[in-house]
Amino acid sequence: MVVHSGLFRHHSVALLSLVTLLNLTHQAYAEKYSYESGQDDGEPRKQSNSCNLFKGSWVFDDSYPLYNGLICPFINPGLNCQKNGRPDKLYLSYRWNPDDCDLPRFDGQDFLQRFKGKKIMFVGDSLSSNQWQSLACILHNAVPDSNYTLVQRGPLSKLTFLEYGVSVMFLKNGFLVDLVVEDIGRVLKLDSISRSNQWKGVDILVFNSYHWWAHTGRLKTCDSKIFTWDYFQVGDKLSKDMDPMEAYKMALTTWSKWVDSNIDPTKTKVFFQGISAVHYQGKNWNEPEVESCNGQTQPIPGSNYPGNRYPGEAIVKSVLSNMTKPVYLLDITLLTQLRKDGHPSQYAMVARIAATGVLLAFLMLGTNSCTQFCSRCNFSFFFNPCYIESS
Ligand SMILES: *[C@@H]1O[C@H](CO)[C@@H](O)[C@H](O)[C@H]1NC(C)=O
Ligand SMILES: *[C@@H]1O[C@H](CO)[C@@H](O)[C@H](O)[C@H]1NC(C)=O
Ligand SMILES: *[C@@H]1O[C@H](CO)[C@@H](O)[C@H](O)[C@H]1NC(C)=O
Repeated sequence: MVVHSGLFRHHSVALLSLVTLLNLTHQAYAEKYSYESGQDDGEPRKQSNSCNLFKGSWVFDDSYPLYNGLICPFINPGLNCQKNGRPDKLYLSYRWNPDDCDLPRFDGQDFLQRFKGKKIMFVGDSLSSNQWQSLACILHNAVPDSNYTLVQRGPLSKLTFLEYGVSVMFLKNGFLVDLVVEDIGRVLKLDSISRSNQWKGVDILVFNSYHWWAHTGRLKTCDSKIFTWDYFQVGDKLSKDMDPMEAYKMALTTWSKWVDSNIDPTKTKVFFQGISAVHYQGKNWNEPEVESCNGQTQPIPGSNYPGNRYPGEAIVKSVLSNMTKPVYLLDITLLTQLRKDGHPSQYAMVARIAATGVLLAFLMLGTNSCTQFCSRCNFSFFFNPCYIESS
């Protein structure tokens, strides 16, 4: 998935998920990768000759990146690190290398051929957008002379490669369940998922939701309510103090029921993009004095991350393991944890300061002063959306 240059740039993640998509789609993926109900570790079943794509390390490979972010028309300017003056370049050329198998180099033309006539949609927060941008840039770079249309309407961005009839879409929807503004305030309805109509008729759906749940508390301290809730609601019951992770579990369960009742696995493949790491605390990678990803130019070597786990990881696995329809987890937590160098860090700011609300909104920052303020608070995930790269 995703974006190129910078951050995870693209490619690695991009590669990984795309390859995964390809393989899964063209093999009997449901059979090989589905979650088995009741299996206690929540891990996907694996075919005997398969390898865990998500366990591995980043290797430097100067035949990358797969596209030049400076000229890709789909990158959010705020995330275009090279354009925004990021001086180092190593981070553009790492390739994800699973421990137990080789990933083929991603081939955009082949991808477009295979997915001829198909619709692919990323649904979620800016990390989904990140992936969308990456895929868009990689494909465009593979067929630069091929005509495309890009239509942006409300929360939906739809890029279509006309010759191939392939549409790659991003639908912004940070919580998946409904956030409704009522007289009493912003109500996050954990058991209601009314915007799901837009997910129908898509061939490949890649969902993601986590960071808005995890960071909302901190956002509130920054005098911003733009992206937060005032109440949770389940049934008729309003609550202010529910544990956000409990709420997250309920919301994901609501989503999982929607998938179980509405998805025909012979027509639609469903993926869940796992939790992306953030890098604000150097103690997680043995640099205790560091408090951001600024100045990081290389990934963590090897395939172990010493630091924190995210409470959402177990929740996601548990919810997926209880589903009746196959959903494949793109378990990107480790591979993003290793990329402390992949974030825009201060090179996201340049554009942010210079630009108007459009770009800022994309970063979930709104047009208020929370930007500067937040850089001094601790929730730099928003301020410093490291996994959104650029270039
Ligand atoms: C792209 O569109 C232009 C104008 O309609 C057309 O002349 C050109 O042949 C198209 N290119 C391709 C590769 O289809
Ligand atoms: C999944 O099912 C198990 C067994 O019924 C249950 O203990 C667990 O709480 C469920 N997980 C979620 C997220 O509902
Ligand atoms: C930021 O986090 C650190 C440690 O996690 C804490 O000591 C500090 O007080 C926090 N700063 C703010 C402004 O919340």
